[in-house]
Amino acid sequence: MKKTVPEIAGRKQLARVPDKNPPQKIAMVTAYDYPTALLADRAGMDVILVGDSLAMVVLGYESTVSVTMEEMLHHAKAVRRGTKEAVLVGDLPFGSYQEGPQQAVHNAVRFLKEAGMDAVKLEGGATHAETVRALVQNGIPVMGHIGLLPQLVSATGGFKVQGRDTKTAQRLIDDAKALEEAGCFSIVLEAIPDRLAGLITRSINIPTIGIGAGPECDGQVLVMHDLIGLFDRFTPRFVKKYADGATLIGDALTQYRHEVQAGEFPGPEHSFTIKDEVIEGLYGDK
Ligand code: KIV
Repeated sequence: MKKTVPEIAGRKQLARVPDKNPPQKIAMVTAYDYPTALLADRAGMDVILVGDSLAMVVLGYESTVSVTMEEMLHHAKAVRRGTKEAVLVGDLPFGSYQEGPQQAVHNAVRFLKEAGMDAVKLEGGATHAETVRALVQNGIPVMGHIGLLPQLVSATGGFKVQGRDTKTAQRLIDDAKALEEAGCFSIVLEAIPDRLAGLITRSINIPTIGIGAGPECDGQVLVMHDLIGLFDRFTPRFVKKYADGATLIGDALTQYRHEVQAGEFPGPEHSFTIKDEVIEGLYGDK
C-alpha cells in the first residue's frame, strides 16, 4: 500500500511519554533512477529521497552545488516510475530556492507536478522558515535539513561535524524548532553529535531522520551508493557499507570481458537456432 506523508509525520518516538508500542523507526534511502528505486521500494523503504547527492555519486560532479533542477527532475521521474509504496521526496538543488519563497514554490511545484514527488526537502534552518511556510501554505509537504549542509560546504569549509560547542548546538535546536513551527513534517539531521541529535529529537514533535546523528533519531537515511559500496571517492565515518557493489560489479565485468575475448561467451544456451533447410536454402544447395 502507498505510504503517505501524514503517516511518516506520525512516526514520532515520544520518548518523554514511556510507550510500550513505540512507532517503527523511519527507514529512508536515496535513489536516482528506475532500478535503484525499484530495489529500494521492494526492500520496504518508508521514504525514498531523490537527493542532490545525485551530483556526486551518479553524475560525477565535485560537489552537490552543480546539479540543476532539470537534472533533478529527469532522475526524479525515473524514480517515480520505479516506486509503488514509498513516500517520495525531491531534494531542491542549490539555486532552486535561495531567491526566496516564490522561486521555491515554483520549483517545488515542478517536483510534484512533473515528477510525481510527494514532498520536497531543502537545506537550512530558521533563515529558511519563511520559504518553508510558503511551500506548506501552497500544499507542498516539506522535509527540513539541518546540521552539515552539503550545498554550503564551500562557505563552511568542508564536510565537518556540526554543533560541537554550546553556541552552535543551541542554534541547531532553535533551527529545528523554527522548521517545525514553519510546518515541516520531518527534519534530516546530518553530522551532529549523538546526544545533541537526541536532544533535538526530544525537543520537537515531528520526526528527525539522522545521517551521522546517532541512534536517538526517529529514523535514519543513507546515500544508496554509500550503502551498497558503489561510491568510493570518500566514505564518511557514519556510513555503514551493507554490500561491496563495486567489487561485485567489477568482478562480473572482468569475467565477461575475459569470456568474450576467449570466445567462451555466448554459449549455445545464449544463442538462437535456425532449421537446417533455411541455411541450406540460403546457399542454394538443396
Ligand atoms: O542529497 C542527499 O542525499 C541528502 C541526504 C544526505 C540526506 O540530502
